Amino acid sequence: MTRSASLKAFAKLNLGLRILAKRADGYHELRTVFQTISLADSLGVSYMAARKTEIVVDGTPHIPDNLVERAARILLDHLKLTAKVHFTLKKVIPTGAGLGGGSTDAAAVLLSLPVLAGKRVPLEVLLKLAAQLGSDIPYFLHGGTTLGLGRGEELYPLPEVKASKVLLIAPAVHSSTAEAYRDLSAQLTSESLQPKLSNFQQQVWLGDTAKPANDFESVIFTRHPELARIRQRLVKLGAGYAAMTGSGSAIFGVFNSSEALLQARKALSREKVFAVSYLSRARYQSSWLRSLQPHVKGAEWPPVSLYAR
Ligand code: C5P
Repeated sequence: MTRSASLKAFAKLNLGLRILAKRADGYHELRTVFQTISLADSLGVSYMAARKTEIVVDGTPHIPDNLVERAARILLDHLKLTAKVHFTLKKVIPTGAGLGGGSTDAAAVLLSLPVLAGKRVPLEVLLKLAAQLGSDIPYFLHGGTTLGLGRGEELYPLPEVKASKVLLIAPAVHSSTAEAYRDLSAQLTSESLQPKLSNFQQQVWLGDTAKPANDFESVIFTRHPELARIRQRLVKLGAGYAAMTGSGSAIFGVFNSSEALLQARKALSREKVFAVSYLSRARYQSSWLRSLQPHVKGAEWPPVSLYAR
């Protein structure tokens, strides 16, 4: 029997991203506030138990070594299951943009496959599998406004930030995360650590009224000055603040009025522009529970399979 579901995998913004130091394991210690937004990829999943595992990812464009396939394999191995799994991925979230597109797709697989397979996997286990796949993936197992420490996998809930009028610009610049870390790493000093920590702490206390900073802007804007210009334009067009997300290249502006946002959208119409809103954790999780119907029971998180014993 085949079980299937149509899912939405939401993107994230980093409301502030401070990179502190390179660790012994090669990753960088960071501080960030993750925020899910309404922009989403569409993922169709169908699952059928089989004697041999076969994972197919259809979709445009074809992405080699897709995280969707890797997430499915890691989960089936963990559950000691063999199955035919077919994905149809419709990418809407720009890639190489710092929006967590690949990460959210992988998290979508980790949340949905156990439900379709009739297995119960505790959140702690899903979080561990997610962290093996990438630093940003555990976040998408929670959603909402979330504090991220460590390499981005140590997560704490924050009060939801209210901002419904956000303009997101995705320039045609593909930014490599590993390269961005390498460039920034060379500039990290012990003197720069304390000001960053106290500045970030202040940002988190300020919540809605904060103007967060992203340490990657310096290295990415040097290489792509047009991104700095987009950020400036957003502020000139009335954004309360504007910043880059993740290791770039997308830039977002938070507006106080819908009129200003619409005008800015028009003025920036030569760019790839999305008007998006923040998604609270409650809305993120209820969207998940809805799209996994009729295969889930109750309203627990992570979603519980109707077929699990
Ligand atoms: O974890 P993920 O695979 O997404 O990271 C991609 C690359 O970014 C890593 O290989 C590493 O070079 C860099 N990275 C880092 N510190 C982090 C997260 C990522 O140096 N906190």
